[in-house]
Amino acid sequence: MLLGKFGSMRGTAVVKNRIVAEDLSYIYDGLSAAEINKLKDSTILITGCGGFLGYYFMHFFASYAERLNLHVIGLDNFLTGSRGWLETLQKENDRVTLKEYNVITDDIQTVEGAEDVNFIIHAASIASPIFYRIYPEETIDANITGLRRMLDFYKTRSIDGFLFFSSSEIYGDPFPEFIPTDENYRGNVATMGPRACYDEAKRFGETMCYIFNQKYHMPISIARPFNNYGPGMNINDKRLPADFAKAVHEGRDLTMFSNGKPTRTFCYIADAITGYLKVMLHGKLDVFNIGIDKPEVSVAEFAHYFAAKAKEIYDYKGAVVFDVSEDEDYMTDNPNRRCPNIAKARSILDYNPTILVEEGIGRYLTFLKINNGELI
Ligand SMILES: NC(=O)c1ccc[n+]([C@@H]2O[C@H](COP(=O)([O-])OP(=O)(O)OC[C@H]3O[C@@H](n4cnc5c(N)ncnc54)[C@H](O)[C@@H]3O)[C@@H](O)[C@H]2O)c1
Repeated sequence: MLLGKFGSMRGTAVVKNRIVAEDLSYIYDGLSAAEINKLKDSTILITGCGGFLGYYFMHFFASYAERLNLHVIGLDNFLTGSRGWLETLQKENDRVTLKEYNVITDDIQTVEGAEDVNFIIHAASIASPIFYRIYPEETIDANITGLRRMLDFYKTRSIDGFLFFSSSEIYGDPFPEFIPTDENYRGNVATMGPRACYDEAKRFGETMCYIFNQKYHMPISIARPFNNYGPGMNINDKRLPADFAKAVHEGRDLTMFSNGKPTRTFCYIADAITGYLKVMLHGKLDVFNIGIDKPEVSVAEFAHYFAAKAKEIYDYKGAVVFDVSEDEDYMTDNPNRRCPNIAKARSILDYNPTILVEEGIGRYLTFLKINNGELI
């Protein structure tokens, strides 16, 4: 077991996979005493709980439920999310409530306990480009209609925080002088195109958050995530790290469907979740980039890191290869560079990501090996 930054694993008995258990204690240790105090004795409602980020949120809240006196209500329509691990988590923990729920059409009044929650996390929205191109209306509606319905329900209720998941995609494809990108950059985004359903819905979602704060003084904060990866990301999700992980797990070559030159900074899930909790607990209108600011690596370098770590962990023998995707929109409006400036989150939230890409890939692959590629 890794010690040091992954801490003592206290409070994480509900998690069997040691990588996740270590990550949860790392997340806990990344919160200040004041932040832990704000979280204590609260009920958190999370939409999109069956997705990648939901996996860590739900495990974190369940793991610390007793110690911090937490209750969590998880909602998902399972359009892309997975159910098995959540049902197990609920069965084993009476502080976890789970309900199949569509944020676009279902009535929040039907969710027992929804009236009395302290924090809301609105994470329901497909995040994988392949899937939001298959479900463009559903993507728009989860971020606009779904968000609006949540805001309407909570606008006159007493809550301590409302976290909206926006995206770094609201910046579109920034001009080189705006990289690293800070929160003041207004974006270079296509209103029409295969990614527009996602990018523009997130932009309008932010506007709605602003309006509801101005009008109803709601304590809304907004996170703009930059390329998260790690345990909890389903290997069939079709985002790049998931594709590579699936190829490793199945012993196939790692295939790049670009020329390998676009660059990203990849933020490991445990760092990202620490940041999102800090944004949620901030409890007032503001917007924060959450990601990691180094190293900025090309997709080809990322593939080579994956292959090298896979060799160590999986005795992997595959190669990194190029191909052309059958999906002709695969590369359309794909940003060339994505790298956040996180100075604002560092200074206001004391957010300090530490898990660099090679270490994070190693943790993801170790998680998958222990779990035989599954989430449970
Ligand atoms: N993971 C990242 O790197 C990243 C980057 C940018 C933004 N985000 C945002 O963070 C949030 C969570 O991301 P994720 O990676 O967990 O996404 P995900 O696609 O893994 O999970 C989203 C979940 O939302 C559910 N969902 C979709 N539509 C719904 C609806 N109408 N009602 C109820 N549930 C619905 C899906 O079934 C799924 O379980 C999303 O809003 C996403 O846009 C994530």
